[in-house]
Amino acid sequence: MYEKRKMARILTGIQSSGKPHLGNLLGAILPAIALSKKERNDSYFFIADLHSLTTIKDAELRKENVRSVAAAWIACGFDIEKNTFYRQSKVPEVCELAWILNCFTPFPMLANAHSFKDKSDKLSDVNAGLFVYPVLMAADILLYDADIIPVGKDQKQHLEMTRDLGLTFNRKFGDTFVIPEPQISNQMEIVPGIDGKKMSKSYGNILDIFQPDKKLRKNIMSIKTDSLALKAPKNPTTCNVFKLYELLGSDEEIEVLRKSYLGGNYGYGNAKQELFELILKKFDKERSTYDKLISDPESLENMLCEGEIKASKIAQSVLARVKDKIGF
Ligand code: ADP
Ligand code: TRP
Repeated sequence: MYEKRKMARILTGIQSSGKPHLGNLLGAILPAIALSKKERNDSYFFIADLHSLTTIKDAELRKENVRSVAAAWIACGFDIEKNTFYRQSKVPEVCELAWILNCFTPFPMLANAHSFKDKSDKLSDVNAGLFVYPVLMAADILLYDADIIPVGKDQKQHLEMTRDLGLTFNRKFGDTFVIPEPQISNQMEIVPGIDGKKMSKSYGNILDIFQPDKKLRKNIMSIKTDSLALKAPKNPTTCNVFKLYELLGSDEEIEVLRKSYLGGNYGYGNAKQELFELILKKFDKERSTYDKLISDPESLENMLCEGEIKASKIAQSVLARVKDKIGF
């Protein structure tokens, strides 16, 4: 049986599939960090690097992705002393628990999973890892006695499977796992990419706020706009530059830009320059911390190792509890 705790344990996994972009920052990283700052919360955030092996096979790319995801979370203010931040692969107990859970997972549950069906339609490499992806995810959660799992809507079914697996096991062997509650985010806003579609790594339309000034400026200057003449008044509500500015600026700043759009004699180049300066100002601290962390992989490694020591302790005790129940 597990101990009852006073603090809610929040846990979530972050795929290490590339450098985080502005959409990831506003849609996932900053809200999760805000949740972790609530006094009574104890957060376990991890980099799901084993899950990323289902699609990414290149070793150097994997290391680079893990470092940039870690640096972005820490730079955005995730407190790794109060909380626990770790790489999934560094706590190998998760694989042992995943195997145990696999042996209790009905085949049709996995065969009917939406995300497996979607991925197997799209990807050329349909491997067994993709098929058992939800079981590894259940192990990620159940291994840490987590209470609350903040995720996007697309992960809802995975959370249902986790609960099913935990409940089935508890019914058979007595209370063993904490049954987690999903916290499905009502995504406040879909951040548009530089072409106006949803910003996503897979569409090649991202704004990477962590790149050097010059490259960032070039990235911003490439945002798609219409081709109205300089003199013409512009429509802020249909402009991608304005939409991005609106997500970041203060009410006053937004109003000033709106007036410039409506007044005419104001070009998109000027608006892009404003957006560039706003990003530099708003993310000044995050950008410089990110650069420091990336240029010092040894310190970054040490930070992650500390989290992994904390995570391992819990993982070992929960796994021992499970193995005892099933007679290992
Ligand atoms: P990508 O589409 O770039 O591959 P992921 O699927 O890895 O991004 O998303 C990681 C997290 O970031 C998820 O919680 C997702 O909801 C959030 N996110 C991704 N893109 C956006 C966006 N354009 N606007 C808001 N949130 C986003
Ligand atoms: N599958 C999740 C995603 O694609 C990432 C993830 C892996 C996760 N393990 C988790 C999320 C455990 C929450 C809890 O976004």
